[in-house]
Amino acid sequence: MAVDRLAAGPHGHVLGYPRATPRRLAARAAALRALGVTAVSLEGPVILGGARVLGKGYSSVVLAARWRRRGVALKVRRTDSPRRTMLAEARLLALANAAGAGPRLLARSRNALVMERAAGAPIGGWLASPAARRAGAVRAVVRRTLESCRALDRAGIDHGELSSPSRHVIVGDGHEITIVDFESASASRRASNVTSAAQALLIGASLSAPVRRACGLPGREDAVVLLRAYKSSMSDASFAALLGGLGL
Ligand SMILES: Nc1ncnc2c1ncn2[C@@H]1O[C@H](COP(=O)(O)OP(=O)(O)O)[C@@H](O)[C@H]1O
Ligand SMILES: [Mg+2]
Repeated sequence: MAVDRLAAGPHGHVLGYPRATPRRLAARAAALRALGVTAVSLEGPVILGGARVLGKGYSSVVLAARWRRRGVALKVRRTDSPRRTMLAEARLLALANAAGAGPRLLARSRNALVMERAAGAPIGGWLASPAARRAGAVRAVVRRTLESCRALDRAGIDHGELSSPSRHVIVGDGHEITIVDFESASASRRASNVTSAAQALLIGASLSAPVRRACGLPGREDAVVLLRAYKSSMSDASFAALLGGLGL
């Protein structure tokens, strides 16, 4: 649906959630058009006031959209977001892209980011699904996740939310992974992406059982030992040893 028509219609709230005046919605639609966004498609796993969207967080609503004739993800700032603009997030996402991680940033403005759409399922749901009964698939997903985390560690970018990766790692059909949401990221803190994600995936209460099974590590203690060595040196060698110890 064209962005202007969306803004004026019954589902206009997706452009200014949780509340915005018709005038503010029209202004947001105009800003999106200026950015090159032509249309929004109300589809996705999350329902927001009767409209389907790709996702919802504390700072934004993520929509399936058209930008320069291609399908993209459009992240729109919530009107009650703790952030005044999305420009800091855009900067961190661009840095992550330069390190080879995150969905590619395509365009930005104060209230919206246009990025590649990561097709697939959040890793939390994926690990609980039948797809995760194949040990080889689980190992591929964990390896790729940790490799992406390592690339961010090396680049000095701390994602900030990978201690609960359930909704911030998207797993595609070919088991490719995308780390999303650089809203809480920082290039000035010490980066702890590998340790945060590995802790959750190998040791944490909610996600680790199928991962340890796939890696042939029955107990948490084995995982703790492997992780501790990486944590103390954060070197390429200790990262390789971590992957090796996990059979990845
Ligand atoms: N590029 C993307 N492609 C597909 N889905 C995405 C993309 N970015 C975010 N999402 C979905 O939208 C949800 C909310 O986005 P997120 O970036 O976490 O927003 P917030 O900063 O508000 O927490 C994510 O958990 C994810 O499911
Ligand atoms: Mg989020």
